[in-house]
Amino acid sequence: MEKKVKFGIIGTGAIAAMHAKALEASTNAELVAVFDKLTERAAKFAEEYNVRAINDFNVFLADTEIEAVTVATPTGIHGMVALPAAKSGKHILCEKPLDVTLKKTDAIIDACEDNNVVLGAVFQSRFSTAVQETKKAVDAGRFGKMVLANTQIHWFRSQEYYDSATWRGTWALDGGGALMNQSIHNIDLLLYLNGDPAEVFAYTDTLTHTGIEVEDNAVAVVKFKNGSLGTIEASTSCAPGFPRRLELSGSKGTVMLEDDCIKNWTFVEELPEDEAIREAGLTGENMKSGSGDPMAIDYEGHKRQIQDLAQAIISGKKTKLSGREGRRAVQLICGIYESAKTGKPVKFD
Ligand SMILES: NC(=O)c1ccc[n+]([C@@H]2O[C@H](COP(=O)([O-])OP(=O)(O)OC[C@H]3O[C@@H](n4cnc5c(N)ncnc54)[C@H](O)[C@@H]3O)[C@@H](O)[C@H]2O)c1
Repeated sequence: MEKKVKFGIIGTGAIAAMHAKALEASTNAELVAVFDKLTERAAKFAEEYNVRAINDFNVFLADTEIEAVTVATPTGIHGMVALPAAKSGKHILCEKPLDVTLKKTDAIIDACEDNNVVLGAVFQSRFSTAVQETKKAVDAGRFGKMVLANTQIHWFRSQEYYDSATWRGTWALDGGGALMNQSIHNIDLLLYLNGDPAEVFAYTDTLTHTGIEVEDNAVAVVKFKNGSLGTIEASTSCAPGFPRRLELSGSKGTVMLEDDCIKNWTFVEELPEDEAIREAGLTGENMKSGSGDPMAIDYEGHKRQIQDLAQAIISGKKTKLSGREGRRAVQLICGIYESAKTGKPVKFD
Protein backbone atom coordinates (compact mmCIF):
# COMPACT_ATOMS: atom_id res chain seq x y z
CA MET A 1 0.00 0.00 0.00
CA GLU A 2 1.23 3.51 -0.84
CA LYS A 3 2.63 5.41 2.16
CA LYS A 4 0.35 8.15 3.44
CA VAL A 5 1.89 11.26 4.96
CA LYS A 6 0.02 12.12 8.17
CA PHE A 7 -1.20 15.72 8.27
CA GLY A 8 -2.52 18.04 10.94
CA ILE A 9 -4.48 21.23 10.14
CA ILE A 10 -3.74 24.48 12.02
CA GLY A 11 -6.82 26.72 11.92
CA THR A 12 -10.18 25.02 11.35
CA GLY A 13 -12.07 27.89 9.69
CA ALA A 14 -13.48 28.20 6.18
CA ILE A 15 -10.64 26.92 3.96
CA ALA A 16 -9.75 24.11 6.36
CA ALA A 17 -12.80 22.15 5.11
CA MET A 18 -11.19 22.10 1.63
CA HIS A 19 -7.96 20.82 3.19
CA ALA A 20 -9.80 18.07 5.05
CA LYS A 21 -11.76 16.98 1.96
CA ALA A 22 -8.62 17.11 -0.19
CA LEU A 23 -6.73 15.01 2.37
CA GLU A 24 -9.59 12.49 2.50
CA ALA A 25 -9.42 12.15 -1.28
CA SER A 26 -5.60 11.91 -1.47
CA THR A 27 -3.89 8.61 -2.11
CA ASN A 28 -0.62 9.50 -0.34
CA ALA A 29 -1.76 11.76 2.50
CA GLU A 30 -4.31 11.67 5.32
CA LEU A 31 -5.61 13.90 8.08
CA VAL A 32 -4.97 12.74 11.64
CA ALA A 33 -5.40 15.80 13.89
CA VAL A 34 -6.43 19.46 14.02
CA PHE A 35 -5.71 22.51 16.16
CA ASP A 36 -7.53 25.82 16.39
CA LYS A 37 -7.15 28.45 19.06
CA LEU A 38 -10.92 28.19 19.39
CA THR A 39 -11.05 24.72 20.92
CA GLU A 40 -14.80 24.24 20.39
CA ARG A 41 -14.41 24.95 16.70
CA ALA A 42 -11.58 22.44 16.45
CA ALA A 43 -13.59 19.82 18.35
CA LYS A 44 -16.58 20.17 16.00
CA PHE A 45 -14.33 19.99 12.95
CA ALA A 46 -12.49 16.94 14.32
CA GLU A 47 -15.77 15.17 14.94
CA GLU A 48 -16.91 15.82 11.38
CA TYR A 49 -13.73 14.35 9.88
CA ASN A 50 -13.25 11.67 12.55
CA VAL A 51 -9.79 12.84 13.62
CA ARG A 52 -8.25 14.07 16.89
CA ALA A 53 -8.61 17.68 18.09
CA ILE A 54 -5.61 18.76 20.14
CA ASN A 55 -6.27 21.73 22.44
CA ASP A 56 -2.70 22.78 23.22
CA PHE A 57 -0.48 24.01 20.36
CA ASN A 58 2.71 22.71 22.01
CA VAL A 59 1.14 19.28 22.44
CA PHE A 60 0.04 19.41 18.77
CA LEU A 61 3.59 20.24 17.69
CA ALA A 62 5.10 17.53 19.88
CA ASP A 63 2.73 14.88 18.50
CA THR A 64 4.96 12.44 16.64
CA GLU A 65 2.14 11.01 14.53
CA ILE A 66 1.80 14.38 12.73
CA GLU A 67 4.44 14.56 9.99
CA ALA A 68 3.13 17.61 8.10
CA VAL A 69 0.75 20.49 8.73
CA THR A 70 -1.42 22.71 6.62
CA VAL A 71 -1.53 26.33 7.78
CA ALA A 72 -5.08 27.69 7.45
CA THR A 73 -5.10 30.55 9.94
CA PRO A 74 -5.64 34.21 8.98
CA THR A 75 -2.72 35.26 6.76
CA GLY A 76 -0.94 37.48 9.29
CA ILE A 77 -0.82 34.51 11.70
CA HIS A 78 0.83 32.13 9.17
CA GLY A 79 4.38 32.84 10.35
CA MET A 80 3.40 32.70 14.01
CA VAL A 81 2.33 29.08 13.62
CA ALA A 82 4.61 28.01 10.73
CA LEU A 83 7.88 28.99 12.43
CA PRO A 84 7.36 26.78 15.51
CA ALA A 85 5.95 24.03 13.27
CA ALA A 86 9.14 24.09 11.16
CA LYS A 87 11.27 24.02 14.32
CA SER A 88 9.28 20.98 15.44
CA GLY A 89 10.25 19.22 12.20
CA LYS A 90 6.81 19.37 10.56
CA HIS A 91 6.62 19.74 6.79
CA ILE A 92 4.32 22.61 5.85
CA LEU A 93 1.69 23.42 3.27
CA CYS A 94 0.87 27.08 3.86
CA GLU A 95 -2.22 28.83 2.51
CA LYS A 96 -1.87 31.81 0.21
CA PRO A 97 -0.39 34.33 0.63
CA LEU A 98 2.55 32.93 2.63
CA ASP A 99 2.33 35.95 4.92
CA VAL A 100 1.42 39.64 4.82
CA THR A 101 4.89 41.10 4.08
CA LEU A 102 8.00 39.93 2.26
CA LYS A 103 9.96 40.00 5.52
CA LYS A 104 7.47 37.68 7.23
CA THR A 105 7.31 35.50 4.11
CA ASP A 106 11.11 35.17 4.09
CA ALA A 107 11.08 34.21 7.76
CA ILE A 108 8.85 31.21 6.94
CA ILE A 109 11.02 30.17 3.98
CA ASP A 110 14.21 30.49 6.06
CA ALA A 111 12.76 28.55 9.01
CA CYS A 112 11.79 25.66 6.71
CA GLU A 113 15.18 25.63 5.00
CA ASP A 114 17.04 25.81 8.35
CA ASN A 115 15.02 22.91 9.73
CA ASN A 116 15.12 20.80 6.56
CA VAL A 117 11.37 20.57 6.19
CA VAL A 118 9.48 20.83 2.90
CA LEU A 119 7.48 24.04 2.41
CA GLY A 120 4.67 24.28 -0.13
CA ALA A 121 2.78 27.52 -0.87
CA VAL A 122 -0.87 26.98 -1.81
CA PHE A 123 -1.81 28.15 -5.30
CA GLN A 124 -4.15 25.35 -6.28
CA SER A 125 -4.96 26.90 -9.69
CA ARG A 126 -1.47 26.06 -10.92
CA PHE A 127 -2.45 22.40 -10.84
CA SER A 128 -5.31 22.70 -13.35
CA THR A 129 -4.87 20.98 -16.70
CA ALA A 130 -5.52 24.28 -18.53
CA VAL A 131 -2.64 25.98 -16.73
CA GLN A 132 -0.34 22.98 -17.15
CA GLU A 133 -1.07 22.81 -20.91
CA THR A 134 -0.39 26.54 -21.21
CA LYS A 135 2.88 26.19 -19.29
CA LYS A 136 3.97 23.42 -21.67
CA ALA A 137 3.23 25.68 -24.65
CA VAL A 138 5.20 28.54 -23.06
CA ASP A 139 8.18 26.30 -22.31
CA ALA A 140 8.09 24.91 -25.86
CA GLY A 141 8.32 28.47 -27.23
CA ARG A 142 5.00 28.19 -29.04
CA PHE A 143 4.01 31.82 -28.33
CA GLY A 144 7.00 33.20 -30.26
CA LYS A 145 7.93 36.54 -28.73
CA MET A 146 5.60 37.15 -25.78
CA VAL A 147 4.04 40.61 -26.07
CA LEU A 148 1.01 40.94 -23.75
CA ALA A 149 0.13 39.23 -20.47
CA ASN A 150 -3.13 40.39 -18.93
CA THR A 151 -5.35 39.26 -16.11
CA GLN A 152 -8.78 40.43 -14.95
CA ILE A 153 -10.21 39.37 -11.63
CA HIS A 154 -13.63 40.99 -11.54
CA TRP A 155 -14.84 39.31 -8.38
CA PHE A 156 -17.44 40.15 -5.78
CA ARG A 157 -17.26 40.00 -2.02
CA SER A 158 -20.22 41.25 0.01
CA GLN A 159 -19.95 43.68 2.90
CA GLU A 160 -21.00 40.73 5.11
CA TYR A 161 -17.93 38.81 3.93
CA TYR A 162 -15.61 41.55 5.17
CA ASP A 163 -17.64 41.89 8.38
CA SER A 164 -17.61 38.12 9.02
CA ALA A 165 -14.21 38.06 10.74
CA THR A 166 -12.25 40.92 12.29
CA TRP A 167 -9.05 40.03 10.40
CA ARG A 168 -10.58 40.47 6.94
CA GLY A 169 -9.69 43.70 5.19
CA THR A 170 -6.90 44.63 7.62
CA TRP A 171 -3.27 45.26 6.65
CA ALA A 172 -1.89 43.40 9.66
CA LEU A 173 -3.81 40.15 9.17
CA ASP A 174 -5.11 40.12 5.55
CA GLY A 175 -2.04 41.88 4.14
CA GLY A 176 -4.15 43.68 1.55
CA GLY A 177 -7.48 43.35 -0.20
CA ALA A 178 -8.57 42.44 -3.74
CA LEU A 179 -4.91 41.94 -4.71
CA MET A 180 -3.32 40.17 -1.74
CA ASN A 181 -6.29 38.03 -0.79
CA GLN A 182 -8.33 37.29 -3.93
CA SER A 183 -6.39 38.15 -7.10
CA ILE A 184 -3.14 36.64 -5.89
CA HIS A 185 -4.09 33.34 -7.57
CA ASN A 186 -4.01 34.86 -11.07
CA ILE A 187 -1.04 37.09 -10.25
CA ASP A 188 0.82 33.91 -9.37
CA LEU A 189 -0.27 32.38 -12.70
CA LEU A 190 0.92 35.46 -14.59
CA LEU A 191 4.38 35.08 -13.04
CA TYR A 192 4.43 31.30 -13.42
CA LEU A 193 3.53 31.50 -17.11
CA ASN A 194 5.24 34.74 -18.18
CA GLY A 195 8.18 35.09 -15.79
CA ASP A 196 9.30 37.78 -13.39
CA PRO A 197 8.34 41.46 -13.57
CA ALA A 198 10.89 44.19 -14.21
CA GLU A 199 8.70 47.18 -13.23
CA VAL A 200 5.15 47.99 -12.12
CA PHE A 201 2.96 51.08 -11.80
CA ALA A 202 -0.42 50.97 -10.06
CA TYR A 203 -3.50 52.67 -8.67
CA THR A 204 -5.56 51.17 -5.86
CA ASP A 205 -8.75 52.37 -4.18
CA THR A 206 -11.52 51.33 -1.81
CA LEU A 207 -14.71 51.97 -3.74
CA THR A 208 -17.66 49.94 -2.47
CA HIS A 209 -16.90 48.49 0.97
CA THR A 210 -16.82 50.22 4.32
CA GLY A 211 -14.81 49.56 7.45
CA ILE A 212 -11.89 47.99 5.60
CA GLU A 213 -8.34 49.36 5.55
CA VAL A 214 -7.38 47.75 2.24
CA GLU A 215 -8.22 48.14 -1.46
CA ASP A 216 -11.24 46.58 -3.09
CA ASN A 217 -10.09 47.70 -6.56
CA ALA A 218 -6.70 47.95 -8.22
CA VAL A 219 -5.18 48.37 -11.66
CA ALA A 220 -1.52 47.84 -12.43
CA VAL A 221 0.63 47.93 -15.55
CA VAL A 222 3.64 45.67 -15.63
CA LYS A 223 6.81 45.43 -17.71
CA PHE A 224 8.09 41.87 -17.62
CA LYS A 225 11.74 40.84 -17.73
CA ASN A 226 11.08 38.99 -21.01
CA GLY A 227 10.13 42.34 -22.59
CA SER A 228 6.35 41.81 -22.67
CA LEU A 229 3.81 44.25 -21.20
CA GLY A 230 0.90 43.39 -18.97
CA THR A 231 -2.09 44.63 -17.02
CA ILE A 232 -3.71 43.47 -13.81
CA GLU A 233 -7.29 44.43 -12.92
CA ALA A 234 -8.32 43.29 -9.45
CA SER A 235 -11.69 43.84 -7.84
CA THR A 236 -14.04 42.53 -5.18
CA SER A 237 -16.75 45.04 -6.17
CA CYS A 238 -18.05 43.57 -9.45
CA ALA A 239 -21.42 41.96 -8.63
CA PRO A 240 -22.21 39.15 -8.99
CA GLY A 241 -18.58 38.14 -9.67
CA PHE A 242 -17.12 36.84 -12.93
CA PRO A 243 -14.62 34.09 -13.82
CA ARG A 244 -10.93 34.97 -13.50
CA ARG A 245 -9.45 35.72 -16.93
CA LEU A 246 -5.86 35.47 -18.03
CA GLU A 247 -4.66 36.14 -21.56
CA LEU A 248 -1.18 35.58 -22.95
CA SER A 249 -0.38 36.82 -26.45
CA GLY A 250 2.80 36.30 -28.38
CA SER A 251 3.88 36.87 -31.97
CA LYS A 252 2.88 33.26 -32.76
CA GLY A 253 -0.02 32.48 -30.47
CA THR A 254 -2.67 33.47 -27.95
CA VAL A 255 -4.21 31.58 -25.06
CA MET A 256 -7.09 32.83 -22.95
CA LEU A 257 -8.08 31.11 -19.72
CA GLU A 258 -11.30 31.61 -17.76
CA ASP A 259 -10.98 29.94 -14.37
CA ASP A 260 -9.79 26.44 -15.30
CA CYS A 261 -11.25 26.54 -18.82
CA ILE A 262 -9.37 27.30 -22.03
CA LYS A 263 -11.48 29.83 -23.97
CA ASN A 264 -8.96 30.53 -26.73
CA TRP A 265 -6.05 28.34 -27.85
CA THR A 266 -4.69 29.68 -31.14
CA PHE A 267 -1.20 29.13 -32.50
CA VAL A 268 0.18 30.08 -35.90
CA GLU A 269 1.87 26.69 -35.99
CA GLU A 270 -0.99 24.32 -35.17
CA LEU A 271 -0.03 20.95 -33.65
CA PRO A 272 -2.06 17.72 -33.97
CA GLU A 273 -2.97 17.78 -30.24
CA ASP A 274 -4.36 21.34 -30.32
CA GLU A 275 -7.91 20.37 -31.26
CA ALA A 276 -8.14 17.93 -28.32
CA ILE A 277 -6.71 20.57 -25.94
CA ARG A 278 -9.32 23.08 -27.17
CA GLU A 279 -12.17 20.59 -26.80
CA ALA A 280 -11.20 19.43 -23.32
CA GLY A 281 -10.28 22.95 -22.25
CA LEU A 282 -13.62 24.46 -23.21
CA THR A 283 -15.43 22.57 -20.48
CA GLY A 284 -12.51 22.59 -18.07
CA GLU A 285 -12.49 20.57 -14.88
CA ASN A 286 -15.03 22.64 -13.02
CA MET A 287 -12.59 23.36 -10.22
CA LYS A 288 -14.54 26.59 -9.49
CA SER A 289 -12.68 29.66 -8.28
CA GLY A 290 -15.03 31.49 -5.91
CA SER A 291 -15.76 34.53 -8.07
CA GLY A 292 -18.76 35.60 -6.02
CA ASP A 293 -18.52 33.40 -2.94
CA PRO A 294 -15.24 32.44 -1.25
CA MET A 295 -16.49 28.96 -0.45
CA ALA A 296 -17.73 28.20 -3.98
CA ILE A 297 -14.49 26.40 -4.76
CA ASP A 298 -13.70 22.77 -5.29
CA TYR A 299 -11.08 20.78 -3.39
CA GLU A 300 -9.59 19.14 -6.50
CA GLY A 301 -6.79 21.73 -6.85
CA HIS A 302 -5.88 21.41 -3.18
CA LYS A 303 -5.89 17.62 -3.55
CA ARG A 304 -3.43 17.76 -6.45
CA GLN A 305 -1.21 20.15 -4.52
CA ILE A 306 -1.31 18.07 -1.32
CA GLN A 307 -0.44 14.94 -3.31
CA ASP A 308 2.52 16.75 -4.89
CA LEU A 309 3.76 17.90 -1.48
CA ALA A 310 3.31 14.45 0.04
CA GLN A 311 5.21 12.94 -2.89
CA ALA A 312 8.06 15.42 -2.26
CA ILE A 313 8.12 14.46 1.44
CA ILE A 314 8.14 10.73 0.66
CA SER A 315 10.66 10.85 -2.20
CA GLY A 316 12.94 13.65 -1.02
CA LYS A 317 12.46 15.34 -4.41
CA LYS A 318 11.37 18.97 -4.80
CA THR A 319 7.73 20.06 -4.55
CA LYS A 320 6.36 21.73 -7.69
CA LEU A 321 5.28 24.81 -5.72
CA SER A 322 7.87 25.69 -3.09
CA GLY A 323 7.91 28.57 -0.63
CA ARG A 324 10.25 30.47 -2.96
CA GLU A 325 7.75 30.04 -5.81
CA GLY A 326 4.95 31.26 -3.52
CA ARG A 327 7.02 34.33 -2.60
CA ARG A 328 6.95 35.68 -6.16
CA ALA A 329 3.32 36.85 -6.10
CA VAL A 330 3.76 38.41 -2.65
CA GLN A 331 6.75 40.37 -3.99
CA LEU A 332 4.85 41.71 -7.02
CA ILE A 333 1.82 42.65 -4.92
CA CYS A 334 4.01 44.45 -2.37
CA GLY A 335 5.52 46.36 -5.33
CA ILE A 336 2.02 47.27 -6.55
CA TYR A 337 1.12 48.60 -3.09
CA GLU A 338 4.32 50.64 -2.95
CA SER A 339 3.66 52.13 -6.40
CA ALA A 340 0.05 53.02 -5.51
CA LYS A 341 1.24 54.64 -2.28
CA THR A 342 4.13 56.65 -3.75
CA GLY A 343 2.63 57.39 -7.19
CA LYS A 344 5.85 56.11 -8.75
CA PRO A 345 6.83 53.01 -10.70
CA VAL A 346 8.58 50.31 -8.71
CA LYS A 347 11.48 48.36 -10.25
CA PHE A 348 12.38 44.78 -9.31
CA ASP A 349 15.99 43.59 -9.23
N1 LIG B 1 -6.54 28.77 -1.50
C1 LIG B 1 -7.72 29.39 -1.49
O1 LIG B 1 -8.44 29.41 -2.48
C2 LIG B 1 -8.16 30.08 -0.21
C3 LIG B 1 -9.52 30.38 -0.01
C4 LIG B 1 -9.89 30.98 1.19
C5 LIG B 1 -8.94 31.31 2.15
N2 LIG B 1 -7.61 31.04 1.90
C6 LIG B 1 -6.57 31.41 2.88
O2 LIG B 1 -6.72 30.59 4.02
C7 LIG B 1 -6.41 31.33 5.21
C8 LIG B 1 -7.59 31.25 6.19
O3 LIG B 1 -8.70 31.84 5.59
P1 LIG B 1 -10.20 31.44 6.08
O4 LIG B 1 -11.12 32.15 5.18
O5 LIG B 1 -10.30 29.96 6.23
O6 LIG B 1 -10.22 32.13 7.53
P2 LIG B 1 -11.21 31.83 8.75
O7 LIG B 1 -11.28 33.07 9.55
O8 LIG B 1 -12.48 31.22 8.27
O9 LIG B 1 -10.44 30.68 9.57
C9 LIG B 1 -9.24 30.93 10.26
C10 LIG B 1 -9.17 30.00 11.46
O10 LIG B 1 -7.90 30.16 12.10
C11 LIG B 1 -8.10 30.15 13.50
N3 LIG B 1 -6.97 30.81 14.18
C12 LIG B 1 -6.70 32.13 14.31
N4 LIG B 1 -5.54 32.30 14.99
C13 LIG B 1 -5.07 31.08 15.25
C14 LIG B 1 -3.90 30.60 15.91
N5 LIG B 1 -2.99 31.44 16.42
N6 LIG B 1 -3.73 29.26 16.01
C15 LIG B 1 -4.66 28.41 15.50
N7 LIG B 1 -5.78 28.79 14.88
C16 LIG B 1 -5.97 30.12 14.75
C17 LIG B 1 -9.43 30.88 13.70
O11 LIG B 1 -9.99 30.58 14.96
C18 LIG B 1 -10.23 30.32 12.54
O12 LIG B 1 -10.91 29.14 12.88
C19 LIG B 1 -6.05 32.74 4.76
O13 LIG B 1 -4.65 32.87 4.66
C20 LIG B 1 -6.69 32.85 3.38
O14 LIG B 1 -6.00 33.75 2.52
C21 LIG B 1 -7.23 30.41 0.76
